[in-house]
Amino acid sequence: MKVAIIGGGPAGLYAAILLKKQRPQAEITVHERNRADDTFGFGVVFSDATLDNFEKYDPPSYRRITQEFAYWDDIAVHFRGTVHRVGGNGFCGCSRRTLLLILQERARELGVTLKFETDIDDEARFADADLIVLADGINSRFRDKYIDHFQPQVDLRSNKFAWMGSTRPLDAFTFIFQETEWGPFIAHAYQYEAGRSTWIFETDAETFKRAGLEGLDEQQSADRMAKIFDWFLDGHPLLINRSMWRNFPMIRSQRWVKGNMVLLGDAKATAHFSIGSGTKLAMEDAIALADAMAQAPSVDAALQTYEHGRREEVEKTQHAADVSLVWFEHVDRFWDFDPVQFAFGVMTRAKAITYDNLTLRAPEFVREVDKAFAKQVSGKGFDVDLDKPAAPMFQPIRLREMEVTNRAVVSPMCMYSAKEGIPGDFHLVHYGSRAIGGAGLMFTEMTCVARDARITPGCAGLWNDEQQAAWTRIVDFVHANSAAKICLQLGHAGRKGATKLMWEGMDRPLEDGGWDTISASPLPYFPDSQVPREMDRAAMDRVKQEFVAATQRGEACGFDMLELHCAHGYLLASFISPLTNQRTDQYGGTLANRLRYPLEVFEAMRAAWPAHKPMSVRISATDWVAGGVTGDDAVAIARAFAEAGVDLVDVSTGQTVRDAQPIYGRMFQTPFSDQVRNEARVATMCVGNITTADQVNTILAAGRADLVALARPHLVDPSFTMRAAAWYGADIACPPQYLPGKEQIFRNSVRDRQDFEDLKIKGKPKTRAELKAEATKPLAAE
Ligand SMILES: Cc1cc2nc3c(=O)[nH]c(=O)nc-3n(C[C@H](O)[C@H](O)[C@H](O)COP(=O)(O)OP(=O)(O)OC[C@H]3O[C@@H](n4cnc5c(N)ncnc54)[C@H](O)[C@@H]3O)c2cc1C
Ligand SMILES: Cc1cc2nc3c(=O)[nH]c(=O)nc-3n(C[C@H](O)[C@H](O)[C@H](O)COP(=O)(O)O)c2cc1C
Repeated sequence: MKVAIIGGGPAGLYAAILLKKQRPQAEITVHERNRADDTFGFGVVFSDATLDNFEKYDPPSYRRITQEFAYWDDIAVHFRGTVHRVGGNGFCGCSRRTLLLILQERARELGVTLKFETDIDDEARFADADLIVLADGINSRFRDKYIDHFQPQVDLRSNKFAWMGSTRPLDAFTFIFQETEWGPFIAHAYQYEAGRSTWIFETDAETFKRAGLEGLDEQQSADRMAKIFDWFLDGHPLLINRSMWRNFPMIRSQRWVKGNMVLLGDAKATAHFSIGSGTKLAMEDAIALADAMAQAPSVDAALQTYEHGRREEVEKTQHAADVSLVWFEHVDRFWDFDPVQFAFGVMTRAKAITYDNLTLRAPEFVREVDKAFAKQVSGKGFDVDLDKPAAPMFQPIRLREMEVTNRAVVSPMCMYSAKEGIPGDFHLVHYGSRAIGGAGLMFTEMTCVARDARITPGCAGLWNDEQQAAWTRIVDFVHANSAAKICLQLGHAGRKGATKLMWEGMDRPLEDGGWDTISASPLPYFPDSQVPREMDRAAMDRVKQEFVAATQRGEACGFDMLELHCAHGYLLASFISPLTNQRTDQYGGTLANRLRYPLEVFEAMRAAWPAHKPMSVRISATDWVAGGVTGDDAVAIARAFAEAGVDLVDVSTGQTVRDAQPIYGRMFQTPFSDQVRNEARVATMCVGNITTADQVNTILAAGRADLVALARPHLVDPSFTMRAAAWYGADIACPPQYLPGKEQIFRNSVRDRQDFEDLKIKGKPKTRAELKAEATKPLAAE
């Protein structure tokens, strides 16, 4: 077998090593345009998990690599004169040059041919090769040559970054967030060998310009950075080696394989440097390719296995890198945060590290986070324990005069079980049990303001006395038997009206017994849905009046709070999204115009709703479709509602049009809540695939939302909040009838939690940094 590898970076060399081990008879050649020791960059970083992989696949190179590595366990965050350190991270760094020399040596040892100073511009010279590995890096010539086939998407990010080095020793992965007269600069720094550290500097495009970095040469810009960070560099110089400022290209390729050619490493996909995974991905690609080649019956089949088997892992890493890079791009959002909350945000930005996880690893740090959170709450006039503060989920919040005892919320959920809009016994039990279950605040399902405002025949309503009496019964029960507050969500289905019950066909048009629908524009939801009538002024006035009348009934029922539903493609949302609003009058066109009618409705409701009671608005912060509402629009929408008197923005997304492409995942809508809260400076509630109290605490402690709603988890677990309170040992209201149950779970939880934490701590293998520290510990210290 003949294998031609183009590119002698980590991907190409490691692929050569693994393939040669597998097939000693194969003729494997690496073609590298540079000289053997002619390498850019400073250090590379690997996690313990990646090193475990290297150990398994090629012990000799692993041993050499780990002899040369610098280990560290801590991450240190420097911000506004403070430093927070968190241990247990298990990373190590090594010089990129050393890594490549080790891989070259190992490849040679195995009989791989290495050809340096060989720039390949045409793969035709490898016509006799069975396999051609394209490991030619981020600017891959071959990916570009077959651009129509590989279909790369290159997303050039807005921040500027430059890779430099220093002789400054570091004992932790160090993030420095530096205020300057021009704006914020960030340093990502770590040691990779004795007396050498990598320094990646990052800043936004405007700060870059203001700082006069444009047009400076490498040395001049290094001098400028050295001046900015001189207090930390402590007299150590910054070193340069192709340290040009650039924009990070996030690359994803639709295809990785063409005939017998396969893309590996940066050539096929990149991951932002802030999660330190570029070299790891490149080498793990090589592992995946070697695995596929070992198992598949032919090169063709192996390449298919590689592409399909590896993609999910690469995309997961890229997603984590995406989330992380967006955090760094918007660091100014958090610039006025308390430093410990800021540091918590840095630690938890990419979702892998959470509140509970940090509690195990750095309990002192989390205690400080809790204290800072409690201090903010106390600043709002609450008498909370500052010495032994409750977890953020169990800190109270006030909206106007409504006080909520904890931050877990039952998200609005249609039960499709009302008769002629009247909530019945099912609803009483449903809402009643969730209130007793401990949520601080619960939302009703979308309650429709008129018969023809319903989504389905099973939707609840509030347009007549009978419905009002039924809702009053529920509200009274909640108030009499729990500490929960209850918010009425009012809505109008618009073009999604006259559809089937959820379990009979979500959003599908009713076959019998439908009613006429209205919308901002006459566009059906499905091609075979009813075509809604475009609302004229008279219809707008009528519907506005219906919202006001339902608001007055809501007050009569005793609801604590009111939400206007402007999300998910329903009537008011259909005005806001340009995808569903094609009007040419003053209610269509610009965002200000599209917001005009929803704001009119909101203002009329606000005027009818008691001034001491809060109101929220639910929005779809993105349509997940090009040309639709974006996160930036959501900030403008939130600002407009805040000016009209909204107290909380309930940040949801999508469900506007059928062909949306949401990116699901844990807490997938939280970044939008973060953006709205910290850019528009309005209180937010986030929701969406949040399933654990740990996630709730992580979101709140990082300042990404003020309240956290859970929908589906509450369907199966009405006592979600009660159980979380027991776990965290937080006080929570409980009706007297249920007190024995509460006492038991609180008692058992202390033991369960201790067992769980012991198991986690015992089950966790020691990091290489810990092992190394133990091995080098002087005997006297033992
Ligand atoms: C300026 C810069 C500095 C970096 N510094 C660091 C760092 O300090 N630490 C870190 O972890 N990561 C660093 N990275 C990222 C990291 O290098 C990559 O994520 C990782 O090296 C990917 O490995 P790879 O083998 O896919 O690509 P690369 O390491 O880029 O290797 C590709 C190789 O292909 C060769 N090549 C390209 N085209 C041809 C051709 N036509 N013919 C022959 N040879 C060719 C190149 O010369 C190169 O050696 C840096 C990236 C850049 C752009
Ligand atoms: C059965 C069901 C009914 C829903 N009905 C409503 C509703 O009436 N109003 C609303 O704003 N959202 C409604 N939603 C959306 C939820 O409030 C929530 O945003 C969504 O389910 C994502 O949260 P989750 O991942 O915690 O379930 C509903 C969701 C479910 C599962």
